[in-house]
Amino acid sequence: MESSQREGEQLKSEITVKPDFTVIRYSRVWEDCVILCKGLDIQPSDVVLSITSSGDNVLNVLLKKPKKIYAVDMSLAQNALLELKLGAIRISLSHDKFLQLLGEAPSTKRLVLYESVKPSLPKYAQEFWDSNLSVIESGIANEGTLEKYLKVFNEKHLPKVVSSELLDAFFESQSIEEQRKVFNQFPLKELKDLISLYFSKEKLEKRRSEAQFQHAKIESDEAGEAFAKRYFVVAENIPAHDNFYFSLFNRGMKGYDPANKPNFAAPYLAKDNYEELKGLIDRVVVCTSTIEEQVKQIPLGTVTKANLSDIFEYTNEEVSCSICESVANVMAPGGRIVYWELQNTRPAPSSVFHYHEKLSKELHAEDRVFYYKSFNVYEKK
Ligand SMILES: C[S@@+](CC[C@H](N)C(=O)[O-])C[C@H]1O[C@@H](n2cnc3c(N)ncnc32)[C@H](O)[C@@H]1O
Repeated sequence: MESSQREGEQLKSEITVKPDFTVIRYSRVWEDCVILCKGLDIQPSDVVLSITSSGDNVLNVLLKKPKKIYAVDMSLAQNALLELKLGAIRISLSHDKFLQLLGEAPSTKRLVLYESVKPSLPKYAQEFWDSNLSVIESGIANEGTLEKYLKVFNEKHLPKVVSSELLDAFFESQSIEEQRKVFNQFPLKELKDLISLYFSKEKLEKRRSEAQFQHAKIESDEAGEAFAKRYFVVAENIPAHDNFYFSLFNRGMKGYDPANKPNFAAPYLAKDNYEELKGLIDRVVVCTSTIEEQVKQIPLGTVTKANLSDIFEYTNEEVSCSICESVANVMAPGGRIVYWELQNTRPAPSSVFHYHEKLSKELHAEDRVFYYKSFNVYEKK
């Protein structure tokens, strides 16, 4: 334990050029909270380490009532978004106003709502949001860099290929047979070509921040085709009527209404769950750092579960292994880590982790977000 801790301490973050952390890159988490919670199997005694991203899955996991969650992100902007959600819960902003503030419901009063939440935020989050009032005003949930890219897809490109009537019929299908029947009426060749092109290696690399992804080139030339193939698998096999991720991807805000359709949104947005979070938010510790640096501050052997998002998309194989080892250092034996792989293959080192292959494959088959090529559950040896 001690020698691997020393190795962990020598580990240098790969990110040597300071990326731009002044913008929200992800205003939603596009990682299925259901398979995440099944993979982590949260227990009341759990201490969880989780990548923050937009904070959605930190709050979704918090609803499972672990003892503590470290929410870690190297991006100050992403943590400021989680702080805004925590701040609103802390002051007991009403549920409908919470949805309005986050851009999850229409509103003309978002800046007034922000002013009421602001005093409950840490200084760095106040400063961040004071410099990004236009993001709040426009509706944060659709203002991340990724979400704006998806918006152009579903507002400008997809309607030229698939009519809104067909899309609506697809999401209203009440059985998988009916859903497949509707999907087969889509112009499938055109749809495949559109997705392959819009999410091609060239396009994706162009919109990736050079500094953040300098060591992580997309390794497959067929990224767009793989993306289209996964879209088809989800369209044909995963019930669309309760897949809010797929609906947001294809239709934006159309058909999405967390206030009145709580089962068609992230669980933390549901009114009952929102009320429950008030008694739980003190269990969240927000940390702005790389995860590999942050774990040096955490007592050894105390973390039992970790959600690593798809952070290995940012790192080469060697650094991915080092990060796994440094996370393993703070984990108790039997603890779990989970992560998604998007383009690249990054197995956790077998010296410290046992791969739950069957469970990983089963959960990946349920994944409502089609982007990822795998979902992985590992156990600390
Ligand atoms: C990996 S990205 C993926 C987002 C996700 N796939 C989605 O679309 O929902 C999520 C967050 O991880 C953070 N991140 C990436 N590598 C990290 C690291 N080594 N330590 C801490 N945060 C990291 C990024 O800043 C980002 O906010």
